Amino acid sequence: METGNTDIKNRIDELRAQIAENNRLYYVESAPVISDYEYDMLMNELIALEKEHPEFVTPDSPTQKVGSDLRNGTSAAADTASSRNHEFSQYPHRYPMLSLGNTYDITEVEAFADRATKTLGTSFTFSCELKFDGTAICLTYRNGRLFRALTRGDGTIGDDVTENVRHIGNIPQKLKGSGYPEEFEIRGEIYMPYKAFDRLNEERIRNEEQPFANPRNAASGSLKLINPEEVSHRGLECTLYHVLGENLPFLTHGQALDAAAGWGLPVSDKRKICHDISEIEEYINYWDTERKALPFATDGIVIKVNELPYQKELGYTAKFPRWAVAYKFKAEQALTKVLSVDYQVGRTGAVTPVANLEPVLLSGTTVKRATLHNSEQMQQLDIRIGDYVYVEKGGEIIPKITGVDLDRREPGTVIPVFPDRCPDCGTPLVRDEGEAKYFCPNADGCPTQIKGKLVHFISRKAMNVIAGDATIDQLFSLGYVRTPADFYDLDKSRLLTLDGWKERSARRFLDSLEASKKTGFDHVLFALGIRYVGETTARSLARHFGNIDALMAAGRDTLLAVDDIGEVIADSILEWFSRPGHLHEIERLKAAGLKFSMEEETVRTSSALEGLTIVITGNFSVSRDEIKAMIADNGGKNSSSVSGKTSFLLAGEKPGPEKIRKAQETGVEIIDEARFRAMLEASDGRDSSSEAASEPEIAGETRKAGRSGSGNDGPFQPTLF
Ligand code: IVH
Repeated sequence: METGNTDIKNRIDELRAQIAENNRLYYVESAPVISDYEYDMLMNELIALEKEHPEFVTPDSPTQKVGSDLRNGTSAAADTASSRNHEFSQYPHRYPMLSLGNTYDITEVEAFADRATKTLGTSFTFSCELKFDGTAICLTYRNGRLFRALTRGDGTIGDDVTENVRHIGNIPQKLKGSGYPEEFEIRGEIYMPYKAFDRLNEERIRNEEQPFANPRNAASGSLKLINPEEVSHRGLECTLYHVLGENLPFLTHGQALDAAAGWGLPVSDKRKICHDISEIEEYINYWDTERKALPFATDGIVIKVNELPYQKELGYTAKFPRWAVAYKFKAEQALTKVLSVDYQVGRTGAVTPVANLEPVLLSGTTVKRATLHNSEQMQQLDIRIGDYVYVEKGGEIIPKITGVDLDRREPGTVIPVFPDRCPDCGTPLVRDEGEAKYFCPNADGCPTQIKGKLVHFISRKAMNVIAGDATIDQLFSLGYVRTPADFYDLDKSRLLTLDGWKERSARRFLDSLEASKKTGFDHVLFALGIRYVGETTARSLARHFGNIDALMAAGRDTLLAVDDIGEVIADSILEWFSRPGHLHEIERLKAAGLKFSMEEETVRTSSALEGLTIVITGNFSVSRDEIKAMIADNGGKNSSSVSGKTSFLLAGEKPGPEKIRKAQETGVEIIDEARFRAMLEASDGRDSSSEAASEPEIAGETRKAGRSGSGNDGPFQPTLF
C-alpha cells in the first residue's frame, strides 16, 4: 500500500472506532458526549472517504448499517432498575425501516431536487415537513384497530412495544370513520414535549435518579418501560408521517396523510407542498426560526417527493430512499454571560472546568451551567469571566460553550486560572502524556473521588443497591463508609443515626445490600471502578478468566489476549491490582460474600441449542461476537463453514453468497435472527436447571438471577418513609 493510502486507511479506522465508541455511549450508556452535529460530521467524513476509496469499504463499517435500538438496555438504560431485565418480543418489519440521508448543507438539498428532476423528467411536487426529534415507531392497523407497534430496531426487526404505545394519549386504538384499508402501516416519531421532559427530569433529580440527557433519549427510554401504565404518565406524543401498505388508493403522500388524519391519526399540520427549491428554502428558513417557539424538539426539515408513483420510480439505495432527504438544523445557540468558573472533580479524578452562567433559555430549558471540558479548551476559546459566550446543547445534559463574542468583551473581564491543586483535597494535579485532562492522583484519599467511587459501586449497573448520592454523602461524612467493603459492615443502629432514617428505611437499605451479594461476578468487577473497565470490558474479563484469582494472576500478555483489551486497559488493570489496599479490599468483599467467580448459571442461559452446530453469516443487530456468545451460552457450537454436519445457517443482513449457496446445496436450513432469538425464547421455562436460564441472553448481556421483580424501580429516599 502507498503511504497516502495507508494514511487514508488509518483515518478510516480511526473514524470507525470513534463512531463505534460514540454509538456505544449513545445507545448503551445513554450518555452521549458529542453533539449530533459532531457525530454527523464524523459519519460524513467516513462516507466521503469510503466513496473515494471503495476498496476500503467493509460490511461492518458503520456506513453500511442503520442504527439499532434493539438492545433493550439502550436508551432505557438510564431508566428504571428493572428495565435491565426486560426484553421485548421482536418481529420482522414488513417493509424495511430505513433512515434518511441527511445534510446540513443547503446545496445538497438543491442537488437532491436536481437529481429527482433529472431522473423523473417531468413536473412534480415536494412535501416539506418538520423532522421530529424522537424515536421512530411503526404502527400496524388491522380492521381499524391498532394491531402492533414496533420500534425501528435494526431496520429489519423491531421490538414489539404495542402495550406501551396503547398508553400514549394521541395514538388511537380504534380508527374513526370508514374507508381505511383492511390493513396498513403508518410510521412516525414518538417524542417527549419539553414540558413533560422538564417535569420528568426534575422528578428524577428529586428522586436521586440519573436525569435523561435530552427529550429524544427520554422518549426512547420511556417507550421501553416495563410497566405500560407508567408510560401514560410520561407525557409522550406521536406524529405520523409515512403510510405504507399493499394497493393503497392514494396518488400522493399528502393525500395518504390527509386520509390518515381523517381516521383520527396524529398527523402534522405544519406540512407544506413546495414546487421548487426556492419554496423549499423558504420553508426551511421559516422553521429554522419558528421551531424555537414549538413545544417539542425538531432537528430539521424532511423534503419528500410527493407523488407516490414517482417515489417508486426513484426507489432506494441500500440505506436510504432516493425520494427524500433530511436537512438538519445546526444546534440552537444562546448568548449569555460567564459569571464564574468552577472546577469539578469526577470519580476518576479528572478535573473539569464548568462555567456558571447568567440563566438563559435554550431549546426550551433554562441553562445555568456549561462545561468547558479541559484547560486546553479554555485557552482555545480564550474565555474570561464576564465574557458573553455562545452555549449549545450537544447530546449531553450539561450544555457546552462553543465560542466567545469578542465584540462584547468589556474591560475588567478576568482570565480564569486552572488550579494546580485538586480543589477538593489540595493534592497537586497531574496530566498524563496525551491526556487533555488534569487529574487528581489522590484516588484513594480525595473525598470527591471516594464518594464518586462509592456511588459507582452501588449504581444500578454495578451492585444495584438502592441508595442515592445524598445517602452516600451522609455515610461518608459520618465516617461510616470509606470503601465499598464498609457498606457490608453497616448495621441498623448506625443507619438509624442518619438524618431522617427510620426503621423501615434502614431495613430496606440492609435488604438491598444483602440482595446485592447475589450480583454476578461481571457486575462486581465493573463495580470495583477500575479505570477503563466499563460494563462490556468487565463482562469480557469475567467470561475469559472465570474468577478474580485468575484475573489477578494474569500478566500483561495474558490480558492483551482477551477480546477488546488493549494496552491502556491492560496497564490500568495491572496498576489497580498492584495496590495492596485494593487486594485487602477484595479480601474484605469476598469475606462479605460477594461473588468473585462466574457461576455456570450466570453464563449458560439455556440449553436451547444443545447439540446444534450453527454457522453464521452477515450482519446482525448485535456484533457477530455477541451472536457467537449467545450460541455458546445456550449450549450450541459455532462453526465457520457449512457442511453436512451443520444444523442450520444463521443469516443476517448481507449474508455471504457462498455460504447461502452451500447451505442450499447441502439442504441446510437457513434461519434469520428473529427465528434464532425465538428459538432461545421458546426454551424459556423449559430449562429449570437455573433461574437465569429462564431469561434468554439478548445482545450479549449476561442476565442475573433474582433481579427481575425485585420491585426496585426507584432510588432510596429515606425521608419519604
Ligand atoms: S420520513 C424512509 N418524515 O428522522 C424514511 N422521517 O433521520 C422515511 N423523522 O428515520 C422517513 N421526522 O425516524 C420522515 N417528517 C418526517 C420525519 C422523519 C422525523 C425521523 C425518522 C427517520 C429519521 C431520519
